[in-house]
Parts: sequence; C-alpha cells; structure tokens
Amino acid sequence: MIEQISARQDEALQAIGNAGDATALEGLRVQWLGRKSPLTQILRGIGELPPEQRGPMGQAANLAKAAIEAALEARTVAVSSARYSQLADTEWIDVTAPGQKPAEGHLHPITTIQYEIEDLFRGMGFSIWRGPQVEDEFHNFTALNIPADHPARDMHDTFWLKDGNLLRTHTSAVQIRAMERLTPPFRGIAPGRVFRHEATDASHENTFYQVEGLMVDRHISVADLIGVMKQLLSGIFKRDVTVRLRPGFFPFVEPGFELDIRCLICGGEGCSVCKQVGWVELLPCGLVHPNVLRLGGIDPDEWQGFAFGLGFDRLVMMRYGIHDIRYFQAGDLRFLEQF
Ligand code: PHE
Repeated sequence: MIEQISARQDEALQAIGNAGDATALEGLRVQWLGRKSPLTQILRGIGELPPEQRGPMGQAANLAKAAIEAALEARTVAVSSARYSQLADTEWIDVTAPGQKPAEGHLHPITTIQYEIEDLFRGMGFSIWRGPQVEDEFHNFTALNIPADHPARDMHDTFWLKDGNLLRTHTSAVQIRAMERLTPPFRGIAPGRVFRHEATDASHENTFYQVEGLMVDRHISVADLIGVMKQLLSGIFKRDVTVRLRPGFFPFVEPGFELDIRCLICGGEGCSVCKQVGWVELLPCGLVHPNVLRLGGIDPDEWQGFAFGLGFDRLVMMRYGIHDIRYFQAGDLRFLEQF
C-alpha cells in the first residue's frame, strides 16, 4: 500500500514537472488532489484498515499530498515567470519614443476677425445680436424702406425660397428685429452670413459675411457715427486711420455714406491696392431713415440712430493678402491650414 502511494506521488510529480501552462496545472490539481484523486480515495479508506496500519498509511498519504501541493505551487511560479519574461520580449513599448501630435483644429480666419470685431464693440457697450439667415420680405426689404416696386431691390440679387421667404441679402434685416424687440436707447452689432444670387469670381461670392451696427439714442449725429467707425477701424488695423465720407445711397439711411479709409499701404500716395487713388472704400453707413425707425416702432422725433454694414471678407483678404474670396467657402485644407 505504501509503495503504491509513493508510485502515485512519483507519477504526479513527473506530470507536474512537464506541465507547460496554468491551465494544465489546474487540470493536474484536480486530478491529483481533487475529490476523486487516488490519494483522497486512500485517505478516505483509512478507517477500514486494521488499526495498526492506520497511522503509517495516513502519514504516508498526507506526506504525498503535501509533496504534490508543493510541486504544483513551485511549477505555477515557474510557469508564470517564464510567461512574463517571454512577454517582455514580444510585447513592449518604447516609453522614450516621441509622442504623436494629435491633429488640432483652429478657427476659420473669418471667425477670428468676427470675434475681434465683437470684442471691440463690446468694449464700446454694444450688444451682440443674431438674426435668422432665412428671412421674410418684410425684414429684409419692406421695413428697410424698400417697398416691392423699389428699384433698390434690384441691387440685391436674391435667393427666393419656394415658401416666399428668402435668404437674407444683408444683415440690415437684424436692425428691424432689434427695433421690434428693444426700447431705446440701445446699441448693438449683428455679425453673420448673407447671401446674394450672383455669379462668383475672385471678388464675388454668393455667401459672405457682414457685421451690421445700429445705435439708437437721443441726439445721434454723423459725428457719433464717425467716432465709432474710427474706433472700430483703428482697433482692427491696430493704428490710427484717416477716414472720409462720400455720399452713398441706401434707402434705409438718410444721409447715407460710403466710408473710405486712407490707404494703409501707401499712406495716400497711390498704389496698386488703392488703385492709385489713395483711399480704400470700406463700409457703407448713415443715419437711420425716419421711415425705418417708424416701421420699427420708434418715434423718429424723439430718437435718432446711425447704422453701418461692414463686409468682413474683404478685411480678412486685406489682412492676409488673400487674392480670391472663393477660398473662404471651399473647405480646402491646404488653404485653411495656413492660418
Ligand atoms: N445693408 C447694406 C448692404 O448690404 C449696407 C448698409 C448697412 C448700408 C447699413 C448702410 C447702413 O449693401
């Protein structure tokens, strides 16, 4: 009987020594120490042996069991450390390798200048207004003193929608929405996208950007308009600018002006940027027409206002030396990644 136990023990130890991984070892644990294992059977049968054999048999079986447990333990450690040293050869990372820079987005140059303009005007106490890009005829034309048969409607080639609405042709529509909503005095700007049904070329797009400005208060005059415009332009160009006003016609202002700045490239001597005239036409503006105030629900005898509409695609083009306005909408990364 005792020989039988030691033969079993040898058999078990040999199998354990040959086991190659943790799964095999677990199988051997069940086989040699489990409930149905030979050693467990022997230990269970001890009670039926003659009393003088019970002691030595129990001892032998327990020793064998301990030896098998120790062997399993030792082999488990050996197998797993072998596995880890092998992993170190096959699965490793070079922690000293330089990282990969994730591709980072940035603002579109149009958005950058829009935010700058918003900051400048916030500094002068203006609110920032937004209006809808799909407008109705009333806000885009009629309330701006451009009735249906007015020739000024031809100045705006309009994208009409099937339901009779339109894509706003200028941000001036937001002037009316502001007047409807607010009680004077108030001042605000409305930056945003506008649309014209036009053939495109290097200086014309069907979609471009304007910022509308409107200030309504008592005793507003052309001097207030000029003051705010100079503040805006020297903020954008980061230096003092000289401006002049020429008469300009827009049905919603009276008087209406084209505001020019002295050419920043040649200082007024004449160059290719200003087409040799020394002045660059920059933005249309004027005092709000009494009819417009009235249609916006404001009494023109008590309140006056000035308004301007600055197209800022052109400003961005001047700032970065961009020669074709169509790049802005083209979504071409080779262009956009330069900013
Ligand atoms: N809305 C006019 C345009 O787009 C510009 C403008 C705005 C003129 C405000 C005068 C006052 O042509």
